[in-house]
Amino acid sequence: MKVGVSMNLPDLKKAKERTSKPVEYQCQELAFDSSFQGKKYFLRTYGCQMNEHDSEEIKGILDFYGMIPCEELEKADVILLNTCAIRENAHDKVFGYLGRIKHLKKERPEVIVGIGGCMSQEEGIVEEIQTRHPYVNFVFGTHNIHDLGRLLSNAKKTSQEIEVYSMEGNVYENVSYKRDSKITAWVNIIYGCDKFCTYCIVPYTRGKERSRKMSEILKEVKMLKEEGYQEVTLLGQNVNAYGHDFQDGTLFSHLLEKVAQTGIPRIRFVTSHPWNFTDEMIDVIAKYPNIMPYIHLPIQSGSNRILKLMGRRYTKESYIELFQKMKNRIPNVAITTDIIVGFPGETEEDFQETLDVVETCQFDGAYTFIFSPREGTPAARMRDDTPKEEKEKRLQRLNERVNFYSKQKNEALLHREAPVLILGQSEKDPKKVYGYTDTMKLVNVDAPQSVIGQIVPVLITDAKSFSLDGRMVK
Ligand code: 5AD
Ligand code: SF4
Repeated sequence: MKVGVSMNLPDLKKAKERTSKPVEYQCQELAFDSSFQGKKYFLRTYGCQMNEHDSEEIKGILDFYGMIPCEELEKADVILLNTCAIRENAHDKVFGYLGRIKHLKKERPEVIVGIGGCMSQEEGIVEEIQTRHPYVNFVFGTHNIHDLGRLLSNAKKTSQEIEVYSMEGNVYENVSYKRDSKITAWVNIIYGCDKFCTYCIVPYTRGKERSRKMSEILKEVKMLKEEGYQEVTLLGQNVNAYGHDFQDGTLFSHLLEKVAQTGIPRIRFVTSHPWNFTDEMIDVIAKYPNIMPYIHLPIQSGSNRILKLMGRRYTKESYIELFQKMKNRIPNVAITTDIIVGFPGETEEDFQETLDVVETCQFDGAYTFIFSPREGTPAARMRDDTPKEEKEKRLQRLNERVNFYSKQKNEALLHREAPVLILGQSEKDPKKVYGYTDTMKLVNVDAPQSVIGQIVPVLITDAKSFSLDGRMVK
Protein backbone atom coordinates (compact mmCIF):
# COMPACT_ATOMS: atom_id res chain seq x y z
CA MET A 1 0.00 0.00 0.00
CA LYS A 2 1.15 3.52 -0.77
CA VAL A 3 1.92 5.79 2.17
CA GLY A 4 0.45 9.28 2.57
CA VAL A 5 2.76 12.25 2.36
CA SER A 6 2.83 15.72 3.83
CA MET A 7 1.41 18.34 1.51
CA ASN A 8 2.44 21.85 0.63
CA LEU A 9 -0.65 23.41 -0.90
CA PRO A 10 -0.69 26.70 -2.84
CA ASP A 11 -1.89 29.77 -0.96
CA LEU A 12 -2.82 32.85 -3.02
CA LYS A 13 -2.79 35.19 -0.03
CA LYS A 14 0.77 34.17 0.82
CA ALA A 15 1.77 34.37 -2.83
CA LYS A 16 0.77 38.03 -2.83
CA GLU A 17 3.06 38.97 0.07
CA ARG A 18 6.12 41.09 -0.63
CA THR A 19 8.54 41.45 2.29
CA SER A 20 12.00 42.98 2.49
CA LYS A 21 13.51 39.55 3.13
CA PRO A 22 16.67 39.25 1.02
CA VAL A 23 16.68 36.86 -1.91
CA GLU A 24 18.61 33.66 -1.33
CA TYR A 25 20.98 32.63 -4.10
CA GLN A 26 21.27 28.86 -4.12
CA CYS A 27 22.90 26.17 -6.21
CA GLN A 28 20.84 23.50 -7.87
CA GLU A 29 21.89 20.17 -6.35
CA LEU A 30 20.39 16.88 -7.47
CA ALA A 31 20.63 13.50 -5.74
CA PHE A 32 21.13 10.73 -8.27
CA ASP A 33 18.54 7.93 -8.49
CA SER A 34 19.52 5.14 -10.86
CA SER A 35 16.05 3.57 -11.00
CA PHE A 36 14.99 5.98 -13.76
CA GLN A 37 17.93 5.24 -16.03
CA GLY A 38 16.72 4.47 -19.56
CA LYS A 39 13.07 5.27 -18.76
CA LYS A 40 11.12 7.29 -21.31
CA TYR A 41 9.58 10.65 -20.52
CA PHE A 42 6.93 12.70 -22.33
CA LEU A 43 6.88 16.42 -21.54
CA ARG A 44 4.22 18.83 -22.81
CA THR A 45 4.69 22.57 -22.33
CA TYR A 46 1.97 25.23 -22.34
CA GLY A 47 2.34 29.01 -22.34
CA CYS A 48 5.10 31.56 -22.64
CA GLN A 49 8.87 31.51 -23.27
CA MET A 50 9.47 31.40 -19.53
CA ASN A 51 7.68 28.05 -19.40
CA GLU A 52 9.52 26.79 -22.48
CA HIS A 53 12.77 27.64 -20.73
CA ASP A 54 11.60 26.02 -17.47
CA SER A 55 10.95 22.91 -19.53
CA GLU A 56 14.58 23.02 -20.66
CA GLU A 57 15.47 22.90 -16.95
CA ILE A 58 13.09 19.95 -16.42
CA LYS A 59 14.67 18.14 -19.39
CA GLY A 60 18.11 18.87 -17.93
CA ILE A 61 17.09 17.17 -14.67
CA LEU A 62 15.56 14.15 -16.44
CA ASP A 63 18.69 13.89 -18.56
CA PHE A 64 20.75 13.83 -15.36
CA TYR A 65 18.72 10.78 -14.23
CA GLY A 66 19.52 9.07 -17.53
CA MET A 67 16.00 9.36 -18.90
CA ILE A 68 15.17 9.50 -22.61
CA PRO A 69 12.72 11.90 -24.29
CA CYS A 70 9.74 10.28 -25.99
CA GLU A 71 7.37 11.92 -28.47
CA GLU A 72 4.48 9.48 -27.98
CA LEU A 73 2.36 9.84 -24.87
CA GLU A 74 1.29 6.18 -25.00
CA LYS A 75 4.86 4.87 -24.85
CA ALA A 76 6.12 7.04 -21.97
CA ASP A 77 7.01 5.80 -18.46
CA VAL A 78 6.79 9.32 -17.05
CA ILE A 79 4.36 12.02 -18.25
CA LEU A 80 4.89 15.63 -17.23
CA LEU A 81 2.76 18.67 -18.05
CA ASN A 82 4.32 22.11 -17.60
CA THR A 83 1.22 24.28 -17.39
CA CYS A 84 0.18 27.91 -17.94
CA ALA A 85 -2.40 29.94 -15.96
CA ILE A 86 -2.57 33.19 -17.88
CA ARG A 87 -6.06 32.67 -19.36
CA GLU A 88 -8.93 30.24 -18.99
CA ASN A 89 -8.24 28.48 -22.31
CA ALA A 90 -4.81 27.41 -21.04
CA HIS A 91 -6.63 25.72 -18.14
CA ASP A 92 -9.11 24.02 -20.49
CA LYS A 93 -6.34 22.66 -22.67
CA VAL A 94 -4.54 21.05 -19.72
CA PHE A 95 -7.68 19.47 -18.28
CA GLY A 96 -8.66 18.29 -21.76
CA TYR A 97 -5.30 16.58 -22.07
CA LEU A 98 -5.64 15.06 -18.60
CA GLY A 99 -8.67 13.18 -19.95
CA ARG A 100 -6.36 11.32 -22.34
CA ILE A 101 -3.87 10.63 -19.57
CA LYS A 102 -6.62 9.29 -17.26
CA HIS A 103 -7.49 6.75 -19.91
CA LEU A 104 -3.87 5.71 -20.26
CA LYS A 105 -3.43 5.37 -16.49
CA LYS A 106 -6.30 2.84 -16.45
CA GLU A 107 -4.43 0.66 -18.92
CA ARG A 108 -0.95 1.27 -17.50
CA PRO A 109 -1.24 2.29 -13.83
CA GLU A 110 2.54 2.15 -13.41
CA VAL A 111 2.96 5.28 -15.57
CA ILE A 112 4.02 8.26 -13.42
CA VAL A 113 2.15 11.53 -14.03
CA GLY A 114 3.34 14.91 -12.73
CA ILE A 115 1.92 18.41 -13.16
CA GLY A 116 4.08 21.51 -12.82
CA GLY A 117 4.11 25.14 -13.84
CA CYS A 118 1.85 28.11 -13.20
CA MET A 119 -1.47 26.23 -12.88
CA SER A 120 -0.03 24.27 -9.97
CA GLN A 121 0.36 27.55 -8.10
CA GLU A 122 -3.43 28.10 -8.09
CA GLU A 123 -5.47 26.98 -5.07
CA GLY A 124 -8.60 26.03 -7.04
CA ILE A 125 -6.66 24.01 -9.60
CA VAL A 126 -4.88 21.91 -7.01
CA GLU A 127 -8.21 21.20 -5.31
CA GLU A 128 -9.57 20.09 -8.68
CA ILE A 129 -6.60 17.78 -9.22
CA GLN A 130 -6.98 16.34 -5.72
CA THR A 131 -10.69 15.61 -6.07
CA ARG A 132 -11.14 14.83 -9.76
CA HIS A 133 -7.72 13.58 -10.87
CA PRO A 134 -6.39 11.45 -8.00
CA TYR A 135 -4.37 9.33 -10.44
CA VAL A 136 -1.95 12.26 -10.91
CA ASN A 137 1.11 11.20 -8.89
CA PHE A 138 2.49 14.59 -7.98
CA VAL A 139 2.11 18.33 -8.41
CA PHE A 140 5.03 20.75 -8.23
CA GLY A 141 5.20 24.51 -8.65
CA THR A 142 7.33 27.15 -10.32
CA HIS A 143 9.56 27.57 -7.23
CA ASN A 144 10.68 23.96 -6.87
CA ILE A 145 11.46 22.45 -10.26
CA HIS A 146 14.66 21.19 -8.62
CA ASP A 147 12.49 18.90 -6.41
CA LEU A 148 11.47 16.92 -9.47
CA GLY A 149 13.95 14.07 -8.89
CA ARG A 150 12.75 13.53 -5.33
CA LEU A 151 9.09 13.66 -6.40
CA LEU A 152 9.75 11.06 -9.09
CA SER A 153 11.51 8.77 -6.60
CA ASN A 154 8.62 9.14 -4.14
CA ALA A 155 5.93 8.57 -6.76
CA LYS A 156 6.16 4.78 -6.64
CA LYS A 157 5.89 4.66 -2.86
CA THR A 158 3.44 7.40 -1.96
CA SER A 159 -0.08 8.53 -2.69
CA GLN A 160 -0.62 11.81 -4.54
CA GLU A 161 2.02 14.31 -3.41
CA ILE A 162 1.44 18.06 -3.65
CA GLU A 163 4.59 20.12 -3.26
CA VAL A 164 3.83 23.74 -4.14
CA TYR A 165 5.39 26.74 -2.40
CA SER A 166 3.73 30.15 -2.30
CA MET A 167 6.88 32.03 -1.50
CA GLU A 168 8.52 35.17 -2.78
CA GLY A 169 11.13 32.93 -4.35
CA ASN A 170 14.85 32.26 -4.45
CA VAL A 171 17.29 32.33 -7.32
CA TYR A 172 18.92 29.07 -8.36
CA GLU A 173 22.25 29.04 -10.14
CA ASN A 174 24.25 26.17 -11.63
CA VAL A 175 21.18 24.94 -13.45
CA SER A 176 22.03 22.57 -16.30
CA TYR A 177 19.55 23.10 -19.09
CA LYS A 178 18.91 20.73 -21.93
CA ARG A 179 18.33 23.38 -24.56
CA ASP A 180 15.99 22.80 -27.50
CA SER A 181 18.21 24.68 -29.94
CA LYS A 182 21.93 24.84 -30.66
CA ILE A 183 21.49 28.22 -32.34
CA THR A 184 19.30 30.39 -30.09
CA ALA A 185 19.13 30.29 -26.30
CA TRP A 186 16.99 31.76 -23.55
CA VAL A 187 18.74 33.31 -20.57
CA ASN A 188 16.77 34.21 -17.45
CA ILE A 189 17.74 37.60 -16.07
CA ILE A 190 14.89 38.35 -13.67
CA TYR A 191 12.19 36.14 -12.15
CA GLY A 192 8.73 37.10 -10.90
CA CYS A 193 6.75 40.31 -11.10
CA ASP A 194 5.80 43.03 -8.61
CA LYS A 195 3.56 45.07 -10.92
CA PHE A 196 0.30 43.36 -9.94
CA CYS A 197 -1.67 44.51 -12.99
CA THR A 198 -5.21 43.86 -11.80
CA TYR A 199 -6.04 41.20 -14.41
CA CYS A 200 -2.82 39.20 -14.12
CA ILE A 201 -2.07 36.01 -12.21
CA VAL A 202 1.70 36.07 -12.85
CA PRO A 203 2.78 37.94 -9.66
CA TYR A 204 0.99 35.19 -7.68
CA THR A 205 2.33 32.22 -9.65
CA ARG A 206 5.90 33.43 -10.13
CA GLY A 207 6.68 35.38 -6.94
CA LYS A 208 8.50 38.65 -6.43
CA GLU A 209 10.85 40.41 -8.83
CA ARG A 210 14.32 39.03 -8.21
CA SER A 211 17.28 39.54 -10.49
CA ARG A 212 20.05 37.11 -11.24
CA LYS A 213 23.52 38.43 -10.51
CA MET A 214 25.06 40.17 -13.50
CA SER A 215 28.23 38.06 -13.24
CA GLU A 216 26.20 34.83 -13.52
CA ILE A 217 24.25 36.11 -16.54
CA LEU A 218 27.43 37.21 -18.31
CA LYS A 219 29.10 33.87 -17.52
CA GLU A 220 26.16 32.08 -19.11
CA VAL A 221 26.12 34.31 -22.23
CA LYS A 222 29.89 33.91 -22.72
CA MET A 223 29.59 30.15 -22.41
CA LEU A 224 26.76 30.10 -24.96
CA LYS A 225 28.87 32.19 -27.34
CA GLU A 226 31.80 29.77 -26.95
CA GLU A 227 29.44 26.89 -27.70
CA GLY A 228 28.57 28.62 -30.99
CA TYR A 229 25.17 30.08 -30.12
CA GLN A 230 24.19 32.92 -32.46
CA GLU A 231 21.45 34.47 -30.37
CA VAL A 232 20.40 34.93 -26.76
CA THR A 233 17.02 36.16 -25.58
CA LEU A 234 17.14 37.73 -22.13
CA LEU A 235 14.04 36.58 -20.32
CA GLY A 236 11.91 38.09 -17.60
CA GLN A 237 8.27 38.95 -16.95
CA ASN A 238 9.57 42.45 -16.78
CA VAL A 239 13.14 42.68 -18.09
CA ASN A 240 13.41 46.41 -17.56
CA ALA A 241 12.90 46.02 -13.83
CA TYR A 242 16.26 44.19 -13.86
CA GLY A 243 18.56 45.23 -11.01
CA HIS A 244 16.00 47.33 -9.09
CA ASP A 245 15.97 44.75 -6.29
CA PHE A 246 19.75 45.13 -5.76
CA GLN A 247 19.13 48.75 -4.71
CA ASP A 248 22.65 49.68 -5.76
CA GLY A 249 21.85 51.59 -8.94
CA THR A 250 22.10 48.57 -11.25
CA LEU A 251 19.79 48.92 -14.25
CA PHE A 252 18.78 46.84 -17.26
CA SER A 253 20.66 49.26 -19.53
CA HIS A 254 23.92 48.34 -17.72
CA LEU A 255 23.30 44.63 -18.15
CA LEU A 256 22.27 45.01 -21.79
CA GLU A 257 25.46 46.93 -22.60
CA LYS A 258 27.63 44.30 -20.90
CA VAL A 259 25.83 41.50 -22.76
CA ALA A 260 26.34 43.38 -26.05
CA GLN A 261 30.07 43.67 -25.28
CA THR A 262 30.41 39.88 -25.08
CA GLY A 263 30.11 40.00 -28.88
CA ILE A 264 27.38 37.35 -29.14
CA PRO A 265 25.95 37.98 -32.65
CA ARG A 266 22.32 38.61 -31.68
CA ILE A 267 20.62 39.76 -28.48
CA ARG A 268 16.89 40.00 -27.83
CA PHE A 269 14.90 40.59 -24.66
CA VAL A 270 11.28 40.03 -23.56
CA THR A 271 9.06 41.39 -22.07
CA SER A 272 9.32 45.14 -21.50
CA HIS A 273 6.91 47.13 -19.37
CA PRO A 274 6.45 50.70 -20.68
CA TRP A 275 6.70 52.03 -17.13
CA ASN A 276 10.37 51.15 -16.57
CA PHE A 277 11.68 51.82 -20.08
CA THR A 278 14.39 54.49 -19.71
CA ASP A 279 16.15 56.70 -22.27
CA GLU A 280 19.41 54.95 -21.37
CA MET A 281 17.92 51.65 -22.52
CA ILE A 282 16.90 53.17 -25.84
CA ASP A 283 20.43 54.58 -26.25
CA VAL A 284 22.08 51.23 -25.56
CA ILE A 285 19.78 49.42 -28.01
CA ALA A 286 20.57 52.05 -30.66
CA LYS A 287 24.32 51.92 -30.00
CA TYR A 288 25.04 48.20 -30.35
CA PRO A 289 24.39 46.49 -33.70
CA ASN A 290 24.14 43.09 -32.00
CA ILE A 291 21.10 44.22 -29.97
CA MET A 292 18.26 43.49 -32.35
CA PRO A 293 15.96 46.37 -33.33
CA TYR A 294 12.88 44.66 -32.02
CA ILE A 295 10.88 45.55 -28.91
CA HIS A 296 7.79 43.86 -27.53
CA LEU A 297 5.99 46.61 -25.61
CA PRO A 298 2.55 45.59 -24.32
CA ILE A 299 0.03 48.46 -24.25
CA GLN A 300 -3.01 46.37 -23.14
CA SER A 301 -5.53 49.18 -23.80
CA GLY A 302 -5.71 52.61 -25.43
CA SER A 303 -8.16 54.01 -22.88
CA ASN A 304 -6.68 55.88 -19.92
CA ARG A 305 -9.69 54.95 -17.82
CA ILE A 306 -9.14 51.23 -18.50
CA LEU A 307 -5.35 51.52 -18.10
CA LYS A 308 -5.98 52.93 -14.63
CA LEU A 309 -8.37 50.11 -13.76
CA MET A 310 -5.73 47.68 -15.02
CA GLY A 311 -3.11 49.28 -12.75
CA ARG A 312 -0.72 49.77 -15.66
CA ARG A 313 1.01 52.95 -14.37
CA TYR A 314 1.11 54.82 -17.71
CA THR A 315 -1.28 56.73 -19.93
CA LYS A 316 -2.01 56.38 -23.63
CA GLU A 317 -0.10 59.64 -24.17
CA SER A 318 3.03 58.54 -22.29
CA TYR A 319 2.99 55.19 -24.13
CA ILE A 320 2.82 56.94 -27.51
CA GLU A 321 5.62 59.31 -26.48
CA LEU A 322 7.84 56.35 -25.55
CA PHE A 323 6.88 54.57 -28.76
CA GLN A 324 7.82 57.60 -30.89
CA LYS A 325 11.11 58.01 -29.03
CA MET A 326 12.02 54.41 -29.83
CA LYS A 327 11.04 54.87 -33.49
CA ASN A 328 13.10 58.06 -33.75
CA ARG A 329 16.21 56.82 -32.00
CA ILE A 330 16.51 53.16 -32.98
CA PRO A 331 17.03 52.78 -36.73
CA ASN A 332 14.65 50.34 -38.39
CA VAL A 333 13.04 49.28 -35.08
CA ALA A 334 10.03 46.95 -35.11
CA ILE A 335 7.60 47.20 -32.20
CA THR A 336 4.93 44.66 -31.28
CA THR A 337 2.39 44.75 -28.48
CA ASP A 338 -0.21 42.88 -26.42
CA ILE A 339 -3.82 44.08 -26.22
CA ILE A 340 -6.69 42.90 -24.01
CA VAL A 341 -10.26 43.57 -25.15
CA GLY A 342 -13.34 43.36 -22.97
CA PHE A 343 -11.71 44.30 -19.66
CA PRO A 344 -14.50 44.74 -17.04
CA GLY A 345 -16.40 47.94 -17.80
CA GLU A 346 -14.77 48.54 -21.21
CA THR A 347 -17.24 50.62 -23.26
CA GLU A 348 -17.41 51.03 -27.02
CA GLU A 349 -15.70 54.43 -26.52
CA ASP A 350 -12.86 52.83 -24.53
CA PHE A 351 -12.45 50.21 -27.23
CA GLN A 352 -12.47 52.90 -29.91
CA GLU A 353 -9.50 54.50 -28.14
CA THR A 354 -7.63 51.20 -28.39
CA LEU A 355 -8.36 51.13 -32.12
CA ASP A 356 -7.11 54.73 -32.35
CA VAL A 357 -3.77 53.80 -30.76
CA VAL A 358 -3.41 50.94 -33.24
CA GLU A 359 -3.92 53.48 -36.07
CA THR A 360 -1.34 55.81 -34.50
CA CYS A 361 1.32 53.24 -33.73
CA GLN A 362 0.77 50.86 -36.66
CA PHE A 363 2.40 48.01 -34.77
CA ASP A 364 4.49 45.39 -36.56
CA GLY A 365 2.33 42.84 -34.78
CA ALA A 366 0.04 42.43 -31.80
CA TYR A 367 -1.06 39.53 -29.64
CA THR A 368 -4.71 40.15 -28.84
CA PHE A 369 -6.77 38.53 -26.10
CA ILE A 370 -10.25 38.65 -24.63
CA PHE A 371 -10.09 39.41 -20.90
CA SER A 372 -10.17 36.21 -18.88
CA PRO A 373 -11.01 36.50 -15.16
CA ARG A 374 -8.33 34.87 -13.00
CA GLU A 375 -9.42 33.76 -9.55
CA GLY A 376 -7.76 35.81 -6.81
CA THR A 377 -6.97 38.86 -8.97
CA PRO A 378 -8.79 42.21 -8.40
CA ALA A 379 -10.19 42.36 -11.96
CA ALA A 380 -11.96 39.03 -11.48
CA ARG A 381 -14.11 40.77 -8.85
CA MET A 382 -14.91 43.82 -11.01
CA ARG A 383 -18.36 44.22 -12.53
CA ASP A 384 -18.36 43.05 -16.13
CA ASP A 385 -21.53 43.72 -18.15
CA THR A 386 -20.24 43.37 -21.69
CA PRO A 387 -21.68 40.23 -23.31
CA LYS A 388 -19.25 37.61 -24.62
CA GLU A 389 -20.53 38.08 -28.18
CA GLU A 390 -19.74 41.79 -28.04
CA LYS A 391 -16.22 41.05 -26.78
CA GLU A 392 -15.71 38.59 -29.61
CA LYS A 393 -16.85 41.20 -32.14
CA ARG A 394 -14.40 43.72 -30.66
CA LEU A 395 -11.60 41.18 -30.90
CA GLN A 396 -12.43 40.58 -34.56
CA ARG A 397 -12.52 44.29 -35.32
CA LEU A 398 -9.20 44.74 -33.57
CA ASN A 399 -7.57 41.79 -35.32
CA GLU A 400 -8.65 43.11 -38.69
CA ARG A 401 -6.70 46.36 -38.09
CA VAL A 402 -3.74 44.65 -36.43
CA ASN A 403 -3.38 42.19 -39.33
CA PHE A 404 -3.68 45.02 -41.84
CA TYR A 405 -0.64 46.75 -40.34
CA SER A 406 1.35 43.50 -39.90
CA LYS A 407 0.91 42.86 -43.60
CA GLN A 408 1.78 46.43 -44.47
CA LYS A 409 5.00 46.24 -42.43
CA ASN A 410 5.89 42.97 -44.12
CA GLU A 411 5.18 44.45 -47.54
CA ALA A 412 7.55 47.31 -46.79
CA LEU A 413 10.35 44.72 -46.84
CA LEU A 414 9.49 43.50 -50.37
CA HIS A 415 12.47 43.54 -52.78
CA ARG A 416 14.76 44.54 -49.93
CA GLU A 417 17.54 42.65 -48.23
CA ALA A 418 17.35 41.61 -44.59
CA PRO A 419 19.75 39.65 -42.36
CA VAL A 420 18.14 36.34 -41.40
CA LEU A 421 19.34 33.89 -38.76
CA ILE A 422 18.52 30.50 -40.27
CA LEU A 423 17.11 28.11 -37.66
CA GLY A 424 16.11 24.98 -39.56
CA GLN A 425 14.23 23.28 -42.33
CA SER A 426 11.00 25.04 -43.33
CA GLU A 427 7.86 23.23 -42.20
CA LYS A 428 5.93 24.42 -45.25
CA ASP A 429 8.46 23.38 -47.84
CA PRO A 430 11.19 20.87 -46.92
CA LYS A 431 13.36 22.21 -49.76
CA LYS A 432 13.50 25.56 -47.98
CA VAL A 433 14.86 26.75 -44.65
CA TYR A 434 13.37 29.26 -42.22
CA GLY A 435 14.63 31.93 -39.90
CA TYR A 436 14.03 35.36 -38.42
CA THR A 437 15.09 38.83 -39.55
CA ASP A 438 16.75 41.20 -37.10
CA THR A 439 13.26 42.71 -36.66
CA MET A 440 11.85 39.28 -35.71
CA LYS A 441 9.95 38.52 -38.90
CA LEU A 442 9.60 34.91 -39.94
CA VAL A 443 11.02 34.18 -43.39
CA ASN A 444 10.91 30.99 -45.48
CA VAL A 445 14.12 31.10 -47.45
CA ASP A 446 15.35 29.51 -50.63
CA ALA A 447 18.79 28.42 -49.41
CA PRO A 448 20.72 25.20 -48.82
CA GLN A 449 20.38 23.39 -45.49
CA SER A 450 24.10 24.00 -44.96
CA VAL A 451 23.35 27.61 -43.88
CA ILE A 452 21.32 26.49 -40.85
CA GLY A 453 22.87 28.28 -37.87
CA GLN A 454 24.19 31.20 -39.91
CA ILE A 455 23.05 34.80 -40.36
CA VAL A 456 22.67 35.29 -44.12
CA PRO A 457 21.46 38.17 -46.32
CA VAL A 458 18.04 37.40 -47.79
CA LEU A 459 16.17 39.18 -50.58
CA ILE A 460 12.46 39.32 -49.68
CA THR A 461 10.32 38.11 -52.59
CA ASP A 462 6.83 37.81 -51.07
CA ALA A 463 5.02 39.26 -48.04
CA LYS A 464 2.01 37.84 -46.20
CA SER A 465 0.40 38.88 -42.91
CA PHE A 466 2.43 36.53 -40.73
CA SER A 467 5.47 35.54 -42.80
CA LEU A 468 7.78 36.45 -45.64
CA ASP A 469 9.36 34.49 -48.49
CA GLY A 470 12.86 35.17 -49.65
CA ARG A 471 15.97 33.93 -51.36
CA MET A 472 19.50 33.96 -50.03
CA VAL A 473 21.74 36.52 -51.67
CA LYS A 474 25.08 34.99 -52.61
N1 5AD B 1 -6.92 37.92 -19.58
C1 5AD B 1 -6.55 38.15 -20.86
N2 5AD B 1 -5.28 38.39 -21.22
C2 5AD B 1 -4.34 38.42 -20.25
N3 5AD B 1 -3.02 38.64 -20.30
C3 5AD B 1 -2.53 38.53 -19.05
N4 5AD B 1 -3.52 38.26 -18.18
C4 5AD B 1 -4.66 38.18 -18.90
C5 5AD B 1 -6.02 37.94 -18.58
N5 5AD B 1 -6.40 37.73 -17.32
C6 5AD B 1 -2.30 38.96 -21.53
C7 5AD B 1 -1.62 40.33 -21.45
C8 5AD B 1 -0.18 39.97 -21.29
C9 5AD B 1 -0.09 38.69 -22.07
C10 5AD B 1 1.09 37.85 -21.77
O1 5AD B 1 -1.29 38.01 -21.73
O2 5AD B 1 -1.86 41.01 -22.65
O3 5AD B 1 0.68 40.97 -21.78
FE1 SF4 C 1 1.30 40.45 -15.46
FE2 SF4 C 1 1.48 43.12 -15.42
FE3 SF4 C 1 3.46 41.62 -14.35
FE4 SF4 C 1 3.12 41.68 -17.02
S1 SF4 C 1 3.68 43.44 -15.71
S2 SF4 C 1 3.46 39.84 -15.73
S3 SF4 C 1 0.88 41.84 -17.19
S4 SF4 C 1 1.36 41.77 -13.63
